[in-house]
Formats: sequence, structure tokens, C-alpha cells
Amino acid sequence: MSVQCQERRQRVKAHHAEEGKGRRGGNAGKETLVPSMSQLPLRAMWEERYGAEEFVFGTDPNDFLRANLSTLGSGNVLCLAEGEGRNAVFLAENGLSVSSVDLTESGVAKTHRLATERGVVVDAVTGDLADFDLGVAKWDAIVSIFAHTPPSIRIDLHRRVVDALAPGGVFLLEAYTPAQVGRGTGGPQVPELTMTAEGLRGELAPLEFLTIQELEREVIEGPGHTGEGAVVQVIARKAE
Ligand SMILES: C[S@@+](CC[C@H](N)C(=O)[O-])C[C@H]1O[C@@H](n2cnc3c(N)ncnc32)[C@H](O)[C@@H]1O
Repeated sequence: MSVQCQERRQRVKAHHAEEGKGRRGGNAGKETLVPSMSQLPLRAMWEERYGAEEFVFGTDPNDFLRANLSTLGSGNVLCLAEGEGRNAVFLAENGLSVSSVDLTESGVAKTHRLATERGVVVDAVTGDLADFDLGVAKWDAIVSIFAHTPPSIRIDLHRRVVDALAPGGVFLLEAYTPAQVGRGTGGPQVPELTMTAEGLRGELAPLEFLTIQELEREVIEGPGHTGEGAVVQVIARKAE
């Protein structure tokens, strides 16, 4: 098989594993390549999706974030794996000083575009959460919306999130749980990329949990999230 053909196959598998495209009906999850793959095919897959004119997850913020805006205060906030910028722009519109990071250049470009259209500023940069420097005691809030990475990245990332929060800082997260796999309404299609309340309780243990719950809700957020979803939601605070 040619190198181009192998790369194409990897990209297609990354696509299926990450978002379940074309895998409605419960046959997702049979291919489990993504967690052990390099970030390269994953990045290429997201660059391809964000290269389209449309916003894959829409331009409105995530529902859980919108409903809990008041818990984040009015200081600085870092949005992880922020994609095309819908959440970062919403937070900037609401007076926070917003930075964001995403794996993709196309996502970051769309973030800047959306911010300009809305008349706000977001310090959006490209970076890999595997080694992105979050700083120490730096952020009044950190937001993680559908930031699904393999456990090899996620566990260390969450340790660094705890360090990076300022005293009293708040971490807000929504992610899909393993029960989402096979639903065909969005989200990763391998359990390894999903999260559970129990797992997050351990990974974020030094924080005080204000909300930590698994539930099913309608996730209608752009063409990428299209129906009933099984999610975990967290709001947690670092001690003063
Ligand atoms: C489902 S999208 C969510 C985007 C955004 N948070 C939202 O809610 O609209 C997942 C995002 O994770 C990003 N991502 C995946 N792995 C990453 C990594 N290792 N470092 C940074 N971003 C990553 C992708 O580029 C993609 O934008």
C-alpha cells in the first residue's frame, strides 16, 4: 500500500473514532486506533473538518457553559481544545479576558474571524495539549468543552489544569461518556477517548467539586452534535 493510501486510511479511521461519522447504528468502536496513534492524523482530520466554511459546532456557545457562566467570574479564562472559538468568543462577549488553544490552525483562524465579527478579542493559539504550557496559578477559570484526548494526554493535562488554576479558580468541563459510543449523534466513537464522573473525580481530586454528574441531554450544537447525548459535567474549584 502506498504511503498516501496509508495516510488516507489513518485519517478516515481517526475521523470515525473521533466523531462517528457514517457509523450510526451501533457498529462504532470496532476500530480503536486513535488512542495509540500520533497526533498527526487526528490533526489532519480536524484541519479538514474546520477547512469548510460552516462552523462544525456552530457559533453559539455550549449549553452547559452558557448556563453556568456566572460561576466563572470576570477574570481571565483559558479554553482548552477550543476548536472554532464559539465558547471563547461567548466568554469574551461577557467580559472575561479570554485565551484559547487548539491543535488546528484552521480552528484558530476561525476563532479569530468569529471574534472580529463579534467585536471582541480572543488570544487564540495553536498548541498540543500533550505539552502545552498552562502555567502555574495563572487562570481564574479553565474551560474544557468536548476536549477528548487519549488518557495518555488527558490524565497529565488534568494534573496540569489543577496546578494552572489560581487560588479560588474554577474548572468547567463537559465531555461525552462511554455511553455515547455508537449513538451517532456526535462525540468520540471509542470509549478510550470518553470520560466518566468517577475518572474525573480521581484526575481532578485536589479540587472541590461543586457539580459532578453524568446525564443524558439533547446536544444540538452545530452539525457536529446532533441529538441525545450521554455526557459528564463538572464544575470544580481550587482552594483559596
Ligand atoms: C469536539 S471538538 C470541540 C471543540 C470546541 N471545544 C467546541 O466545543 O466547539 C474537539 C477539539 O479538540 C481538539 N484537539 C484534539 N486533540 C487535541 C490536542 N492534543 N491538543 C489540542 N487540541 C486538541 C481538536 O482540534 C478539536 O478542535
